[in-house]
Amino acid sequence: MDPVRNPYAPGAGTPPPELAGRDVLLETVRIALERVRLGLPTKSILMVGLRGVGKTVLLDRMRDDAEAVGLQTIRIEAPEGRSLPAILAPQLRQSLLRLSRVAAATAVAHRALRALAGFAKSLKVKYEDIEVGFDFDPEPGLADNGDLEHDLMALLEVVGAAAKAADTALVLFVDELQYVEESQLAALITALHRTAQRRLPVVLVGAGLPQLRGQMGHAKSYAERMFEFPEVGPLTNDEARSAIAKPAADNDVKITDQALDKILEQTRGYPYFLQEWGKHAWDAAQASPISEADVDAASRSAVAALDESFFRVRFDRLTPLQKRYLRAMAELGTGPHRSGDIADQLRRTVTSLGPARAQLIAKGMIWSPNHGDTAFTVPLFDEFMRRIMPRNDWQDG
Ligand SMILES: Nc1ncnc2c1ncn2[C@@H]1O[C@H](COP(=O)(O)OP(=O)(O)OP(=O)(O)O)[C@@H](O)[C@H]1O
Ligand SMILES: [Mg+2]
Repeated sequence: MDPVRNPYAPGAGTPPPELAGRDVLLETVRIALERVRLGLPTKSILMVGLRGVGKTVLLDRMRDDAEAVGLQTIRIEAPEGRSLPAILAPQLRQSLLRLSRVAAATAVAHRALRALAGFAKSLKVKYEDIEVGFDFDPEPGLADNGDLEHDLMALLEVVGAAAKAADTALVLFVDELQYVEESQLAALITALHRTAQRRLPVVLVGAGLPQLRGQMGHAKSYAERMFEFPEVGPLTNDEARSAIAKPAADNDVKITDQALDKILEQTRGYPYFLQEWGKHAWDAAQASPISEADVDAASRSAVAALDESFFRVRFDRLTPLQKRYLRAMAELGTGPHRSGDIADQLRRTVTSLGPARAQLIAKGMIWSPNHGDTAFTVPLFDEFMRRIMPRNDWQDG
């Protein structure tokens, strides 16, 4: 069918034509944000889930919803290798400048901008990547200790006061939180703990890989009680069906039940894969309805597309030993797997593979659901590894 009208949207953070199965989560967050605005006790929310389940898309939607009801928002992504204060500071400045235009909040917002100036100046020594414009001179003693934990707490406190004066709340939307280094994560938790204690309207809505939950608890033992960790996972059968069928129907295209069953079977309800299969099935079909044979053709081209992009970009960032580690996992199946079993595959000891495993966790390729267990963070990655490293020579380094 006409590829120009193809509604499906495989991609990173690309909004799907139908955001299926997430209404409950959206409503949970909506309620939390309204409660924060009213100064009622509320937990920050950290969505955790594997690659491609739709975390980024959800954050963006939640942000749009928050802006639509007059909340102040900041949207950042924690990149590998940059500091949290560096990515936070310029965004906070933008927010404070906006808040300062509300008459009732001008004075407090200006004070918060002074705090931000002190914060950036004093932390620049340690976090050289901080770059932010200064609108005011620092106020001596305000958020300028040079210690991130203390200064971020002081800063978010005045920022919260500014948001409160403006009768709104400040919502920090942070993606890829698992990449934030532990001491910076600890500082963020402490700062949010303080604003929560003071009932100041500042709240975090974050997203990350499943290891985030453990990282938060490790950074601050009370973190697990301070946050909600809703899991974002594959869609149920009904949700997955509507993710595919609804966009088609909106274009007056039908899809047979057998074709839908096939797509569900191939994608296991993972949102990214659903978009990829939807797209390829649409392109493969000559006319409505999209049939099972169209999906069979689509499966071949969808897998090829995934191998070239979604899987490939992750694979290319790995060292030879890291690749062999993942290949050994793949040999054992979907997982999770015991470290000892993986080491046996490679005829190595668990200890000697410790660094490779740790690097793979840091890169966000694998995580540990339980002590000694290892699982992929990318759905269906085991099948990909068996395709891309088919021969048996990976066992001997
Ligand atoms: N609820 C949904 N229904 C249908 N499609 C969805 C849904 N959520 C996300 N998608 C699609 O899935 C793909 C991946 O979404 P997104 O980039 O938000 O995932 P992610 O969890 O942030 O992945 P990563 O961990 O790799 O950053 C996109 O193509 C998006 O359109
Ligand atoms: Mg994402």
